[in-house]
Amino acid sequence: MTNNIYFIANWKMYGSTLSLNSLKKLKNLSKSKKYNNAKIIYFPPFTLIQNFVDKFKNTKISVGGQNCHEVEDYGSFTGSISPKMLKDLGCKYVILGHSENRITGETDDDINKKIHSALNKNLKVIFCIGETLKEKRKNITFSVLRRQINKGFKKIKNYKNILIAYEPVWSIGTGVIPKDKELEFNVSKIKKMILKKTKSKLPVLYGGSVNNKNISRLKNIRGIKGFLIGSASQNSKKFIDIIKKTIN
Ligand code: PGA
Repeated sequence: MTNNIYFIANWKMYGSTLSLNSLKKLKNLSKSKKYNNAKIIYFPPFTLIQNFVDKFKNTKISVGGQNCHEVEDYGSFTGSISPKMLKDLGCKYVILGHSENRITGETDDDINKKIHSALNKNLKVIFCIGETLKEKRKNITFSVLRRQINKGFKKIKNYKNILIAYEPVWSIGTGVIPKDKELEFNVSKIKKMILKKTKSKLPVLYGGSVNNKNISRLKNIRGIKGFLIGSASQNSKKFIDIIKKTIN
């Protein structure tokens, strides 16, 4: 594993062509040697992918899709985007298994098919896992995470292009983050489950209400290789602040 620290900017269904002006500062930051090991990856809505790819041409900043269809090339699937199409636009990554998609019906099996297709098209996968508040209260967090990992990774042979984002669903967009001890413990459990299933050590990122205030705490949690940042990443100032506070 490298010393890279990942900063995943997930813009969800936000952003317009006007948002592009705010990205210049990120471009400048990525040129600075000090932030050499900061792997910044933007996930704009599909409508802005081309703009972001153009904007970050010849920089170290990558761009990815927030989801993709399980069919890797083309097909009659109105409203869908395939891994091939993402690749064609210049995407290097795709987020799969985000709880906002699981909640609307995406199953572990669907996600598994998408992971296969994305890897076949040479996209790197940010695979999201996490328990809901109800599952946490029922004390079934680890069986949920184990199921998501084992089903998500069914018949996957090569794990080198996969990163895990641990996102407790009750932390996403709520302003509530896990206690340090809880997060450290859960991350170490996840690592053991992954090692058992994949025989590989995959980077584990944390996501859920990361901001420029709690980052000073979160960056000290052992075992975390970066952050998946939603709302705070849409504000360049806050996003830069997060990167600076993590790397400094
Ligand atoms: P948030 O979103 O940072 O706004 O909580 C995280 C995510 O994208 O899941």
